[in-house]
Amino acid sequence: MSAEVEAYHPGLEGVIAGETAICCVEQDRLLYRGYDVGDLARHASFEECAFLLLHGELPTAPELALFKKQIDGERELPGAVVEVLRAIPRQAPMMDVLRTGVSLCGNFSSAKSQGASNLLTRAVRVLAAVPSLIAVRLRILAGKPLLEPRPGLSHAAQFIYMAFGREATALEEKILNLTLVLYAEHEYNASTFAARVCTSTLSGLHSSVVAAIGTLKGPLHGGANEAALHLIDQFRSGPDARAWVEEALEKKVKIMGFGHRVYRNGDHRAFILEPYVDELAKARGEPWRAEVYHAIKQTVWDKKKIHPNVDYPCGLVYYFLGFPPDIFTALFVMARVSGWCAHIIEQHENNRLIRPRSRYTGPAPRAYVALAAR
Ligand code: CMC
Repeated sequence: MSAEVEAYHPGLEGVIAGETAICCVEQDRLLYRGYDVGDLARHASFEECAFLLLHGELPTAPELALFKKQIDGERELPGAVVEVLRAIPRQAPMMDVLRTGVSLCGNFSSAKSQGASNLLTRAVRVLAAVPSLIAVRLRILAGKPLLEPRPGLSHAAQFIYMAFGREATALEEKILNLTLVLYAEHEYNASTFAARVCTSTLSGLHSSVVAAIGTLKGPLHGGANEAALHLIDQFRSGPDARAWVEEALEKKVKIMGFGHRVYRNGDHRAFILEPYVDELAKARGEPWRAEVYHAIKQTVWDKKKIHPNVDYPCGLVYYFLGFPPDIFTALFVMARVSGWCAHIIEQHENNRLIRPRSRYTGPAPRAYVALAAR
């Protein structure tokens, strides 16, 4: 093997595995198609952001109106999909339900070829289907009647309406929209890479999204937002949390919601979201939760010099918004599906099969031993 092939980086750490014009992740900036995520978080709706990721430019007002109309036109799930959502056992995690739901929806997507415009059609379908799948499953679990989508609502408000049967408050809509913008895209993270690998074999868009959902589910990736909330939820005071975290770090336990493969000085998205932890803790009359949040953060910093990632504040923010913990990672999918689809389209436009090599560590060559002689 050549020296080039021999280069080995466990976990592909630091390896440039491809090019992308969609997102730039660096220590000092996070850009979607050149726009700073802080600017987008302050000013843009999730729908604007999804359009930007998929098309490369921010939409004009008519383009945005048409895009929203297209999404609204795809929100209703086929009856057979709803039946399967009813049939899945109650205890199944929402991420598994979503993986099955998206896979099933793929069979109802009539766009046959994988050309760019068909990929965009499928992208809009899957973007619209994800919140509907989560909302319908929640209604089924709660034994409540299913609700027709209400055209014209924002993506965030529509989800709250379809899942909980009420209008979102302005604060809920604003904060859910903000988390969707922050979660929308993050270059070659594990789930996006999984989607690109699947796409590179010329498999279909729904298959690639299913691969990505399965990859996002794990607690080292998207599953960390739910895991972080469970951690915070164990404690009722800062000193209790501090004592537990100190002991856990001594035992080399990983604290969920902390650390990042790329960021060394902190995660831009966590800095943007964190002020809402304090605001919501105050508004909900649960200041001790913010105290626990800050105590854990300070302890991890004091002992390991590791910053929180976006999943740490997001878990608590979603708790304060009243969402059940089992849907936290599914809400991440609701956002990231826009980034995945942008990458699927980009991979398709300039495809080369992704097929790396491995270093063999098995036994040296040996002769076959007949069954009777073993
Ligand atoms: N808690 C305690 N120690 C940690 C943590 C953590 N969360 N993260 C990293 N470390 C330590 C690790 O033990 C190691 O220490 P030492 O050198 O003393 O052995 C050092 O930091 C390097 O860690 P690593 O595991 O080699 O780093 P990695 O780049 O392989 O892992 C990570 C990155 C995100 C998987 C890891 O930080 C982690 O497991 N974090 C917890 C899960 C999490 O929050 N995931 C969300 C990631 S970002 C958003 C998203 O994609 O959803």
